[in-house]
Amino acid sequence: MKNVSVANIKRYERPEILSLLVKRVAGLKNKYRQNIAILGHKSLGKTRLIFELLQRSKCSEIIPIYINVEPMPINKFAKNFIGVILYQYLFIEDTGEIVDEFDFLFNRCKEKIPKTINVIKQIESAIKNKTSTYEIFSMVFELPHLLYEETKKPILLVLDEFHNLENIEVENPFLELSNKIMVQKHTMYLLLSSAIYAAENILSKKLSLLFGNFETIKIQPFDNISAVEFIKEQLDEIKITETLRNFLTFFTGGYPFYLEIITEHIKSIARDKKSDCLTEDILVCAIEETMYKDYGVINQYFRNKYHEFLNTSQTNLFSGILLLIAEGKKKTAEIAGFLGKKNHEINRCINRFIQNDIITKKGVFHEINDSLFVHWLKYVLNRQEQSFNMDIFSSAQEFKTNINNLLYRFNIESKKRIEQRIKELFETFENDIIEIDKKRFKLSRFEKVEINNNNGISLIDGIHLKNNWLCCVGKEFIDENKVGEFLAKVKNKNGSRKILVALEGIDANARLKALEEKVWIWDQKTINELFSLFEKPRFVK
Ligand SMILES: Nc1ncnc2c1ncn2[C@@H]1O[C@H](COP(=O)(O)OP(=O)(O)OP(=O)(O)O)[C@@H](O)[C@H]1O
Ligand SMILES: [Mg+2]
Repeated sequence: MKNVSVANIKRYERPEILSLLVKRVAGLKNKYRQNIAILGHKSLGKTRLIFELLQRSKCSEIIPIYINVEPMPINKFAKNFIGVILYQYLFIEDTGEIVDEFDFLFNRCKEKIPKTINVIKQIESAIKNKTSTYEIFSMVFELPHLLYEETKKPILLVLDEFHNLENIEVENPFLELSNKIMVQKHTMYLLLSSAIYAAENILSKKLSLLFGNFETIKIQPFDNISAVEFIKEQLDEIKITETLRNFLTFFTGGYPFYLEIITEHIKSIARDKKSDCLTEDILVCAIEETMYKDYGVINQYFRNKYHEFLNTSQTNLFSGILLLIAEGKKKTAEIAGFLGKKNHEINRCINRFIQNDIITKKGVFHEINDSLFVHWLKYVLNRQEQSFNMDIFSSAQEFKTNINNLLYRFNIESKKRIEQRIKELFETFENDIIEIDKKRFKLSRFEKVEINNNNGISLIDGIHLKNNWLCCVGKEFIDENKVGEFLAKVKNKNGSRKILVALEGIDANARLKALEEKVWIWDQKTINELFSLFEKPRFVK
C-alpha cells in the first residue's frame, strides 16, 4: 500500500497511535482484520486523527467508509449510510466525475454492484412499508459485506460516536452489530466514542465477541512536550516566554481544542495591537474573549456541556456538587456536610457524573476530568450564579484578576525545585485512600517530610511510624544504572515505600528492574494527577 508512512509527523499529531492504525489498515489489506475502538473525552482529536489516517492510507485496495453516528431516526441513518457507501465505492472504483446526490450515486452504481443495490432497494421499501427498525438496521449493516463480495476490496468502516447507535430507534442494536462483526471478516470496524463510560460498557458487555475482539486505544490530552510543540507552531511569529507557554499548557489541560481557540485569539489580539510578543495582558485578554464573553467559543461550549447534563437532572443538587468539587472539596463527606445531605444522596449524584464522563473517582477523591471546565465553573459560572451585582464591567475585571492570580501562583510554583513541590505535596496528605495507576493506597499523614541531599541526589523522605516514603526525582531519562543508583541510596531503609519519579521517561529494562525491587515509578502524568488532586498546578517543563 502506498502513502502509509507516518514520516514527517509531529509529536502532537500522535505518531504512535497513527502508526498503529496505519499498520492495522495495512493488515486488513493482507486479510488480517483487527477491530479497533478509540475512546477519549470530547475534543481531544479523535475525529481529526481518523481523517489523518484516511488521508494517509488512501489507496485503491480498500474502501473506507466514515459514518458519524448521531441520534436520529433509523430512516435518516440508513439513507446517510447508503449514500456514503455508494459515494466511497465510486470514489475508489470510478474515474468519472461524482455528483454528491443520492439519485446520481444510486443510478451510477446500479449495474456495477447489483447485489448491493438490490439490498438498498429492499431497505428503501422496508422504510416505505414501515418494517421493523431492527430489520432495516440489519440490512444496512449487511451492505459493507455485500460491497466486499462484489468488489473483493476489504472495507474500513469507521463509526464515529458509535454509542449513539443506541439512539437511532433500534432496539438492542449491538446484538445485531456483534453478529455482523463476527461474520464479516473483511470489514474492519473502527469505533470512536467520547462517551467513555458508555462505550466501555458496550464493548465489554455487548461487543465482547469471540472473533471480533476490539483493541482499545485511549486518547489523552497532549503531554507537556506535545502541548509546547503545538503552541510554538501555532504562535510561530509571536515571541512567548517559557512561563506563559507552560501556563497555557497547564490552563488548558493540554486539550488541543482549547489550545487552538486561545492561540488563535492571541494571534488576532497581537495583530490588532501590532505586538510581536505575547504579554500577560494579551494572554489574559484572549482568555477573557474565549472563555468569559458571552460569544466566546469556550464559554458557549462549557455552557452547553453544563446544561446538557443538568437538563436531565435535579438541577440544584447536581450543580451544587459540581461547584464544590471545582472549588476543591473532592470527598463525599465534605460535600455532604456543606450541602446538608446524606453521603448516599451525594454518591448517587456523583455516580451520574461518572457515567457521563464528567468526573472520575480516584479513591475517596472525585476529580472533574477537564481542568479548563474546572476553571470555567469557578470563575465564570460560579460568579454568575452567586452574584446579584449587575455591573458587568466589574465582573469582567474580577474574572481577569482571577486569571492573573492563577498565573501568579503558577509562576511561583514553577520557580520551585520539583523536590520542594513534592515535599509540599507530601505535607498535605491526610490519611486518605487514593487510587492512581490502578493501585489503591493510603496517603498517610507524615509526621515530617524532609529533603536530604546525598552526593548530588536529593531524597524526599516522608517520615511516618509505619509507612515511610522515600522518593527520588530522575531529571534525565532513567536507565538500569539509574535505578541501581537509587536502590543503593535506599538499601538500608527497609519497610519504606520507594518511589522514583521518571520526569523524562524510563527504559523498559529499568522499569522491569524497578518493578522487581518493588520501586514504584511515577511519570509526569502520575505526579500531575497528584498535584491536581491537591489543587496544585501541573508540572510543566
Ligand atoms: N493533533 C492535533 N493537532 C492539531 N489540532 C488538533 C489535534 N487534535 C485535535 N485538534 C483540534 O481540536 C479540535 C477537536 O478535535 P476533534 O473534533 O477531532 O476531537 P474529537 O475528539 O473528535 O471531539 P468530539 O468527541 O467532540 O467529537 C479540532 O478543532 C481539531 O482541529
Ligand atoms: Mg469527534
